[in-house]
Amino acid sequence: MKYFIAANWKLHKTRAETREFLRSFIPAVQEVTDVDIVIAPPFTALSAAADEIKDSNIQLAAQNVFWEEKGAYTGEISPQMILDAGCKHVIIGHSERRQYFSEEDVIINRKIKAAKKAGLGVIFCVGESLEEREAGKTFDVIKREVEAGLSDVDSDNLVVAYEPIWAIGTGRTATAEQAQEIHAYIRKILGNVYGNKANDVRILYGGSVTPDNVDSLMACKDVNGALVGGASLKPESFAKIVGFKKEK
Ligand code: PGA
Repeated sequence: MKYFIAANWKLHKTRAETREFLRSFIPAVQEVTDVDIVIAPPFTALSAAADEIKDSNIQLAAQNVFWEEKGAYTGEISPQMILDAGCKHVIIGHSERRQYFSEEDVIINRKIKAAKKAGLGVIFCVGESLEEREAGKTFDVIKREVEAGLSDVDSDNLVVAYEPIWAIGTGRTATAEQAQEIHAYIRKILGNVYGNKANDVRILYGGSVTPDNVDSLMACKDVNGALVGGASLKPESFAKIVGFKKEK
């Protein structure tokens, strides 16, 4: 299975900064053929990014999407608009959206359906908080989020990202064993719905991934890529992550 490594830039980078990043990142990864390399800039930088990545091996993703195609929804962006801006994928269900923007499972499910219907690939995020982990609720939370988010959704063009909230932006990465345990569990839940097709769904790990820990995480059987925040903002560091040592 081809690895999938995505940069989630969150609320970072102007158009000029996006162009500057890509002008140094694209040459650094141009030989990489065994990884789907994806960048998710803020909406305002998407067209500058689309312009820079022409004829490269980089794909674009948006960080959010609304579920309607058009209408009186001030401030929202439709799946069709995202496609039109040059994106192939969209991140949905990120814990920051769940936490700060009250996006609940039903909203996330609606967004996933609309994005897939429009032909976008979906990077669907799930993950437990520190309190939930310490209370022994990790498996229950993951099961609920996966089942609710993917209700009536097929497995085509779907990537799932396991992002333990306690590891996001904290420098506290899950160990390879912790990641593998939850990835295998996610694969099992996907198997209940998709059967053998669950083996084709790429499951990414996210949460303080760096050039130093990427090799051991990617070596896990059920880890098929990474969703990277902080360490994706510098071209050298993200290029090192994309060029991790492949040995499964
Ligand atoms: P981080 O963010 O790599 O900065 O921990 C990951 C994410 O939130 O996608």
